[in-house]
Amino acid sequence: MFGPTIYKERRKALLSRLDQGIVLLLGNEESPKNYHDNTYRFRQDSNFLYFLGLDQPHLAAILDIDAGSTTLYGNDPDINHVIWMGDLPSLAELATSTGAQSSATFSKLPKALEEAQKNGRKIHFLPPYRGENKIRLHQWLEIPLNDLGTAASVPLVQGVVDLASAKSEEEIAEMEKAVNISRLMHHAAMQQARPGMKEAELAGLIEGIALSHEGDVAYPVILSVNGQILHNHYHGNTLQEGQLVLVDAGAETAQHYAGDITRTFPVSTQFTAQQKEIYEIVLKAEQDSIASSTVGTRYLDVHLSAAQIIATGLSELGIMKGDVEEAVAAGAHALFFPHGLGHMIGLDVHDMEDLGEDYVGYTTELKRSAQFGLRSLRLGRALEAGFVITVEPGIYFIPQLIDLWRSEGKFLDFINYDALDAYRTFGGIRIEDNVWITPNGPEILGEPIAKTVAEVESLRKG
Ligand code: GLY
Repeated sequence: MFGPTIYKERRKALLSRLDQGIVLLLGNEESPKNYHDNTYRFRQDSNFLYFLGLDQPHLAAILDIDAGSTTLYGNDPDINHVIWMGDLPSLAELATSTGAQSSATFSKLPKALEEAQKNGRKIHFLPPYRGENKIRLHQWLEIPLNDLGTAASVPLVQGVVDLASAKSEEEIAEMEKAVNISRLMHHAAMQQARPGMKEAELAGLIEGIALSHEGDVAYPVILSVNGQILHNHYHGNTLQEGQLVLVDAGAETAQHYAGDITRTFPVSTQFTAQQKEIYEIVLKAEQDSIASSTVGTRYLDVHLSAAQIIATGLSELGIMKGDVEEAVAAGAHALFFPHGLGHMIGLDVHDMEDLGEDYVGYTTELKRSAQFGLRSLRLGRALEAGFVITVEPGIYFIPQLIDLWRSEGKFLDFINYDALDAYRTFGGIRIEDNVWITPNGPEILGEPIAKTVAEVESLRKG
């Protein structure tokens, strides 16, 4: 974790944004996988990490807005913990490490909340997403389970988003680390893929690299010869000459900052002419989008420019037709680019998504579009210095979607369906980097990762 001053300053800044009452921050519990004591790898709640930095289960904190103080709730380890888990810090030591003024045993927390309620104090809490914390809030605050989302504090959500959107220097250093580990994962996949290998061999190899750097993967590895399936977690296919492999994988550092990188490479040592044509369009969309991700630019506009580059490229190949601006305004390009250009990234790969995507990516003036494709854009608002975002355009040929739109006679003025017969087994291409928005312009985080056709082919041949 960082030093206590950082967490104290963050909590102070949060409390200064709120009127009165208390803030209840719940850490995560161990989560059983197939029986109580066989748990998933522990992952602390990201908001708890951001404001307290403590990476142990069974902790909570009350931040008193009026007193400006923090009380950490948890339990001291007993001899049984020591026997099974080794030496663990005391609750008081944990409190000191995060600069909390006091600590108390976990069982005293419901009483403290009851007292606050009795005294008419507002209890601000964030929307819960784990079952254990939903049940706790339901029991402690007597809020129906189904109402917890709407009962969560909007000012608290807005305060967290306001603070955590711009990354500090020490966070950027962690994120550079995450991207550099992700780089090793992608280069290993590009170097070691061979026809005849199972996707699972490569997926396991790159997941191991994340773990070997004392972290984890930031999200389940997407690695597939069926890159047109956007979040494909099936790794049972065998790599064959002529296919593409799409790898969307990122490491999470020991401090839990995420990387989120995508590369697409040929199973053969070279791209085919057809693959190269599509690859170059996606690459141009990615590079131009990065260049135009500057302070003050709406990411919605960057997304729409990427869509125009894709539609222009596909028109030049005879796949799309008609006026490109009209095609993009109508949403015809979304047959090939059905997702958003990117999202914020930080302690979560989709940063702060638990707080509500629209609080993170949109404003009261800028609402999310309902149009297919555009509605999946997680970040639309103007970029600010300190944001770290993903830039991840793609082109996909999804046979089922093509057939559906064709049968519906959709966008006949903009799509040349006959030309698509040659792309039915193409798959998909996505290229993604993590970009830090600075007052001097966008900076791609981490050491360069092979990206041009020549760079990728060079690693494949090597
Ligand atoms: N890289 C996975 C995602 O952004 O959803």
